[in-house]
Amino acid sequence: MNFQTQPVCAEPKLCMDNYLPKIGRRAIVNQILAGLCCKKKYISSMFFYDAEGSKLFEAITHLPEYYPTRTEMGLIDEVARQIGPQLEDTDIVEIGSGDCSKISILIEMIPEHVRNSIRYIPVDVCQAAIEDSASILSGKFPRINIHGVVADFISQIDLIPKGKKRLFCLFGSTIGNFSRNQAAEFFVHLGKTMQPGDQLLLGIDRVKKIPILEKAYNDSQGVTQEFNRNILKVVNYLTGTDFDPTAFEHLAFYNSIHDRIEMHLKASKDMAISCPHTKSPITIGKGETIHTENSHKFKDKHIENLSHNSDLTVQNILTDPNNWFSLVHFVK
Ligand code: AVJ
Repeated sequence: MNFQTQPVCAEPKLCMDNYLPKIGRRAIVNQILAGLCCKKKYISSMFFYDAEGSKLFEAITHLPEYYPTRTEMGLIDEVARQIGPQLEDTDIVEIGSGDCSKISILIEMIPEHVRNSIRYIPVDVCQAAIEDSASILSGKFPRINIHGVVADFISQIDLIPKGKKRLFCLFGSTIGNFSRNQAAEFFVHLGKTMQPGDQLLLGIDRVKKIPILEKAYNDSQGVTQEFNRNILKVVNYLTGTDFDPTAFEHLAFYNSIHDRIEMHLKASKDMAISCPHTKSPITIGKGETIHTENSHKFKDKHIENLSHNSDLTVQNILTDPNNWFSLVHFVK
């Protein structure tokens, strides 16, 4: 997460805006400390994704236990065959773009004469992830324009370039990180930002047998543990705290009341964390947890609730044969 860099435009086909400095370092520090100084400690899952965290998440997507990415890719392939030929002159806006593996499948399926007329707009909080994926994609598809946007997509969605017809992509069940209310609110806002004729592909992870879900967040190689602990390194970097990530145990379990996986970091001993921005150290007791992520899972009713108050209508829902993951195609 880079809060200082100025916009860079390397070459005409590849440019980058960084809007994070607009949020301001101070606001970020306050947001993090508010979560660490309250009764039930939490850190927003947005802070997972520095360069290292984005790499670790990418490693998660290749794990045998982590079925979502693989499953969704099959669905992206399928939908791209259907809508690819109609994407002439479209801006493809990928929100929370991360690495470029998913969008590659989509772009690959667009007929070449159409493909050369599109622009790809990856939006992510991690500038390094956008840079890496832009360089891979421009190698693969030299004729497409890429306009990277480094931004917080909740508060800064209106800063995404407009003007052409747009296909929004929100893959990976990223929307599951929001509370149900936040997700619905975000959805209404996204719907308002979209113009008639614009489309949205939304990836959502479905409710399924609990062991399958819990294994996906407790992999045998410990990559998810490392990913979870890395958030403390990001917090140290952003706020000047001195968390020792190895003093925290990775916890991930299914919460059946809210239909979500929760991730926490559990303190293995009493700790006093020093911080240049607080009068006294932040204290954490042995066994206390810091809540780092909610990953909501979806039933049909959740999809309906999500779009209920928005201007978007469901065009099609693609689901894999196991009923594990869905790609919902919305139009305005
Ligand atoms: C990036 C939100 C899709 O919730 O499954 C993976 C992040 N956390 N393993 C998810 C994640 C732990 C992931 N999303």
